[in-house]
Amino acid sequence: MDEILLKIEDLFIEYQTELETVRAVNGVSLEVKSGRTLGIVGETGAGKTTTCLSILRLLPDRTGRVTGGNICFRDKNIYSLSEEEMRTQICGEKISMIFQDPMTSLNPVMTVGSQIYEALKYHNHENKTREELERRVDEVLELVGIPAERKTEYPHQFSGGMKQRVVIAIALACEPELLIADEPTTALDVTVQAQVLAMMRDLQKKVGSAILLITHDLGVVAQMCDDALVMYAGEIVESGSIEDIFTPGSHHPYTMGLFGAIPDLDSAVDRLTPIEGLMPDPTKLPDGCYFADRCPYAEELCKQIHPTRTSLSGTHTILCHRFSEGLKEVSHE
Ligand SMILES: Nc1ncnc2c1ncn2[C@@H]1O[C@H](COP(=O)(O)OP(=O)(O)OP(=O)(O)O)[C@@H](O)[C@H]1O
Ligand SMILES: [Mg+2]
Repeated sequence: MDEILLKIEDLFIEYQTELETVRAVNGVSLEVKSGRTLGIVGETGAGKTTTCLSILRLLPDRTGRVTGGNICFRDKNIYSLSEEEMRTQICGEKISMIFQDPMTSLNPVMTVGSQIYEALKYHNHENKTREELERRVDEVLELVGIPAERKTEYPHQFSGGMKQRVVIAIALACEPELLIADEPTTALDVTVQAQVLAMMRDLQKKVGSAILLITHDLGVVAQMCDDALVMYAGEIVESGSIEDIFTPGSHHPYTMGLFGAIPDLDSAVDRLTPIEGLMPDPTKLPDGCYFADRCPYAEELCKQIHPTRTSLSGTHTILCHRFSEGLKEVSHE
């Protein structure tokens, strides 16, 4: 069950606009194993969506560009596949993505039912009949809490939360090996959110899918994920198992800021705590640590030299001078 499905190594992504270059992702490495869930947290603009889009080669054509690194799905380098191979072998079939904005993945001129039907038909390996597929459409809709008779309606007739549920239904119906879910439950109320998370877990149990889950909700991370990454200004500033991240002890100052204090896995702290100050301008990243301006522990060294990653244990890594070799490790509980 612990085969590495997705491996990203030292990924760099830039957006080139007329006037400037946005350095959105700066050396991200991560692995997602089958049957496991990796959570990514970080404040707005950290590069979470950009990282996800690059996995499916969906960066905006003219502006977005991978400038370094590798993305492999199983042992296939995503960027060495042809468009055709990408479309037939990877998208939908092997990897599904639930987008942050549901309208990007729904067709406004097709009924909701026919969009689910098309997705099921495309992946119909068991040669089910039309009637069987139609029944499955009803089932899938009911599963996400939408009455089956609404399948003849168009996306604009649905509320934001309902549209998001349709997108989730389509992504799960295809039983992907890797599900990328970018803030899948933000627009949903708590009850439906719990149902959707349960559906994701069922899918995982049934087909051993790997899940890459982006969320602002630390409660969701604690509940759903095996491993977690904290992202800041296009970098992973801390990574580890869920225990590494949620246990008091050694943490990146940004993680501590986000969490307010590091909550334990059962605590009720759900929301990320706002941290004073702003992320650095991604068109003018500083030479030193990207967090230095907001960091309560920053010293002169932090402003001048970019930190390197330190491994605290087999699973736990931190990108901070305070943990670098030779510097005294400070424990903050
Ligand atoms: N199409 C684009 N053109 C130029 N810059 C972009 C584009 N898309 C994103 N960016 C920039 O890239 C950086 C990373 O954006 P991204 O959408 O990946 O962040 P995010 O972590 O998903 O944020 P959020 O939590 O708000 O969804 C930001 O500085 C953003 O302004
Ligand atoms: Mg995003």
